[in-house]
Amino acid sequence: MVDGQRMTIADDVRTNGATPNPWWANAVVYQIYPRSFQDSNGDGFGDIQGIISRLDYLAGLGVDVLWLSPVYVSPQVDNGYDIADYQNIDPRFGTMDDMDELLREAHKRGLKIVMDLVVNHTSDEHAWFRASRDKNDEHADWYWWRPARKGHEPGTPGAEPNKWGSYFGGSAWTYDQKRGEYYLHQYSAKQPDLNWENPKVRKAIYKMMNWWMDRGIDGFRMDVIAEISKRVDSNGKLPGEQGGHIPDLPANHGYSTPFLACTDGPRLDEFLREMRHAVFDGREGYMTVGEAPGIRLKRDGYITDPVHGELDMMFLFNHVLFDCKNYDTWTPVPFKVDGLRKIMAKEQKVVSKAGWASLYFSNHDQPRALSRWGDDSEAMRVKSAKALGLLLHMHRGTPYIYEGEELGMTNAHFTQLEQYRDIQSLNIYKERVDEQHRVSPEEMMDVLAKRSRDNARTPMQWDGGKYAGFTAADASVEPWIAVNPNHDVINAEAEVGDPDSVYSFYKRLIELRHTNAVVAAGDWKLVDAHDEHVYAFTRSLGGEKLLVAVNCSGQTVPIPRQAAKLLASSGKLDEGRLLISVTGSLPVNGQLGPWEGFVYYV
Ligand code: NOJ
Repeated sequence: MVDGQRMTIADDVRTNGATPNPWWANAVVYQIYPRSFQDSNGDGFGDIQGIISRLDYLAGLGVDVLWLSPVYVSPQVDNGYDIADYQNIDPRFGTMDDMDELLREAHKRGLKIVMDLVVNHTSDEHAWFRASRDKNDEHADWYWWRPARKGHEPGTPGAEPNKWGSYFGGSAWTYDQKRGEYYLHQYSAKQPDLNWENPKVRKAIYKMMNWWMDRGIDGFRMDVIAEISKRVDSNGKLPGEQGGHIPDLPANHGYSTPFLACTDGPRLDEFLREMRHAVFDGREGYMTVGEAPGIRLKRDGYITDPVHGELDMMFLFNHVLFDCKNYDTWTPVPFKVDGLRKIMAKEQKVVSKAGWASLYFSNHDQPRALSRWGDDSEAMRVKSAKALGLLLHMHRGTPYIYEGEELGMTNAHFTQLEQYRDIQSLNIYKERVDEQHRVSPEEMMDVLAKRSRDNARTPMQWDGGKYAGFTAADASVEPWIAVNPNHDVINAEAEVGDPDSVYSFYKRLIELRHTNAVVAAGDWKLVDAHDEHVYAFTRSLGGEKLLVAVNCSGQTVPIPRQAAKLLASSGKLDEGRLLISVTGSLPVNGQLGPWEGFVYYV
């Protein structure tokens, strides 16, 4: 194959178990967080026209698919993951005409558009929920409404139907005065869970999805899709309702978690299959990726196996939770490459024969991987950004790049609570510092600086100007969240033409995914599974084998035994066999310097 030319790898991949004709198997997806990407009208808020103005940049980077976080009408309590109208664009982002223009302009450049689909819940301002507050309305059963606990006055403390806490703090039940009942919300009180048991709900959702597909979008990223089916007993009751037993999980400060009952419920496969038929049958060229926090790995293999007709890929969470004590984001434990490797290995294995992996380290819900696992200091930032990029992109699956990752953007490093905007971060501070006095303000600020979702949400750094080119320098309104001051050094303008930049490195990684069959489809196998610093593996396809080795530490370390043996077995080190490396050259003296890594034909 000619270097630089996009190949079709359908056949290679098919022999390795993925969906027949999976165009997405050697595609690279780029996630846009619209409110932080590009503001076109000086209101401090990113918008669709802003995205259109940056399409040439994205096409230049070489990505294939743009995933847009939600741009639908929304009160924005959870930055658009609380949708009030699925079939209209929020005026903050623009109009439906803008959306159509984006689709046209993206397609013209060979870019596909995948929309976020948030259907585990709506906003409480959605017409369905409003109607549902009336017990006599036909929407009465569209959400999880429950009476107060027997013997309790509705709306008083302890009268909630069970003891579940919301993932965003407080009870997972909110009392509605008008209806005289409680509704379930796993997330904020303004994000009521839809009742997927009701076939009318499902029908309405599929209709809306078809409407978007007909409009020309290329698929969906499905928000917390593994939570749509809940475990109810034969009487339709949720665990713990009216005093029954709730399965134990680590207590969440007075609340139990809805996790066991609301993740991967008994009808998930049925719903996903039904959705596939109702929306995607007869369509081509689309993709689906489902977000599935906490789902068992085996289930990833099942759900993404094309034979079962459910989803093309899923976002797993195991590898972004290994450095959290008891799965608590707010209790970070130090990064050890072994922890990451063990979990990534399991995630790779479960889809090695059938099904397919999504590959991500960063997104709008995670701190930036570069600051989290790498080293964002001036001396090491570029190297460790490249090393982490190399590591992720050499795995088997479809890589996802989160906006700014390709520039080596870092965490926000906020120092004041007032700088944060994220509902989850603000609620956890209130809960643990103000209400429970569990941690000191200083400790919590330190944790937020490491873990808040806002770390990933600061404006995209386009140039070194006042607002980083995100919003016009003379705009009268400040960006909705502060621009990272390091945009004077870290920005697209400085990196695009620089062959040694993080941007140029990512561009090459994307090119390899398109042009190198081994990178795209080769089998994945761990090497030196226990090395303390170096994460190494091979990729093989046909007669070809690549050795990937990345030093995930700030020390100079020897290339571990098995990797060194593989290198030695292929003779004297030869530039011609080097596919890509962090430094641009071969390893020297059998060692890897801080955050160095390479991919070599062995
Ligand atoms: C996952 C989304 O990625 C996150 O941003 C959101 O807060 C929750 N789902 C609830 O929709």
